[in-house]
Amino acid sequence: MKHTKIVRITDVEKDKALLEEAGRIIRDGGLVVFPTETVYGIGANGLDADACRSIYTAKGRPSDNPLILTVPDKEAVKEVAACITPTAQKLLDAFWPGPLTIIFPRQKKVPNAATGGLDTVALRCPDHAVCRAFLRCAGVPVAGPSANLSGRPSPTTAAEVAHDMEGRVDMIIDGGPCEIGVESTIVECNADDMVTILRPGGVTTAMLERVVGHVQVDTSLVTGQGVPKAPGMKYRHYAPSASMTTVIGSVSAVTAKLSQLYEQYRREGLSVGFLVSAEVASHFPQENMYVWGHHDDKEGLANQLYTGLLFFDDHRVDHILAEGTDSEGLGMAIMNRMKKASGGDIVIL
Ligand code: TXA
Ligand code: MG
Repeated sequence: MKHTKIVRITDVEKDKALLEEAGRIIRDGGLVVFPTETVYGIGANGLDADACRSIYTAKGRPSDNPLILTVPDKEAVKEVAACITPTAQKLLDAFWPGPLTIIFPRQKKVPNAATGGLDTVALRCPDHAVCRAFLRCAGVPVAGPSANLSGRPSPTTAAEVAHDMEGRVDMIIDGGPCEIGVESTIVECNADDMVTILRPGGVTTAMLERVVGHVQVDTSLVTGQGVPKAPGMKYRHYAPSASMTTVIGSVSAVTAKLSQLYEQYRREGLSVGFLVSAEVASHFPQENMYVWGHHDDKEGLANQLYTGLLFFDDHRVDHILAEGTDSEGLGMAIMNRMKKASGGDIVIL
């Protein structure tokens, strides 16, 4: 067990000494959890193979699942990417800092331990002042997967991080709750400069298309068949402790379907929890209920999704009845996570 120092940082100037300490821990091969605008990340020196390997141990992560390298600005891309195509440059200019991870051919100095043996490297520059100040203090690209134990929902608050990571890392930087709540969008630009979404996230398809024209979506995400291009997308992920059914439709249709399922589970003597919008929640008992936002507010739903899934760690039930959303805009990222959390048990009305 490591001793984990937990520090709350709100002002990057006032708390400079703590950020410098965090940077030293990284350069010395240690692990620091840091806030971003999407979810919390667990950081190690991305150019140090041993430090990268210790992330896999701390998370219990399969070693073929590559890490994202987190950098403080666009200039840092030149230090680790072998080349930047014109389209990749357009994406950098339009979306960085922000929730877009871009896959580049890697330079030799990026270790196999960071890329899972791939000849590409995923790079991301978070739109978060505390995070970028920390990255500047570290002075090296920071390998930074989400700070959850492998297979669990990603943490969006420092308390959720501490639940999984206390005793496994040297420091946790508490920067308050994450603003977006689901992970970054991951894109690849191939040799023809075609942009493909490997993981939907905070930057939507429409936002990307406004900058680069047509965008593809990795077919395995659309069909559920074949091997995903982002290795991490093949694992059952984001899963709460109970089984879950997700129902999508209008407030009245979802309410009717959930009432029917609720009665069915109760007749079988099973306990039921709800992860639903405020509009649907008012029709059901409030015990074991997590209201995760309003029916038409996708930003709000994305923000509360993982906290909602984690709520059922403390409120144990046999089955969760959840309300989903349509797959437009940010809904694509939300529903990608919910499909996995419900093991594909989705009802579209
Ligand atoms: O918002 C985020 O991206 C968060 C915050 C902490 O920055 N990070 C994050 O990292 O979600 P992680 O490790 O939980 O997810 C990274 C995903 C995995 O599915 C991994 O397989 C994929 O990125 N990935 C990493 N490098 C890749 C590469 N070279 N090619 C294809 N996929 C890659
Ligand atoms: Mg993750």
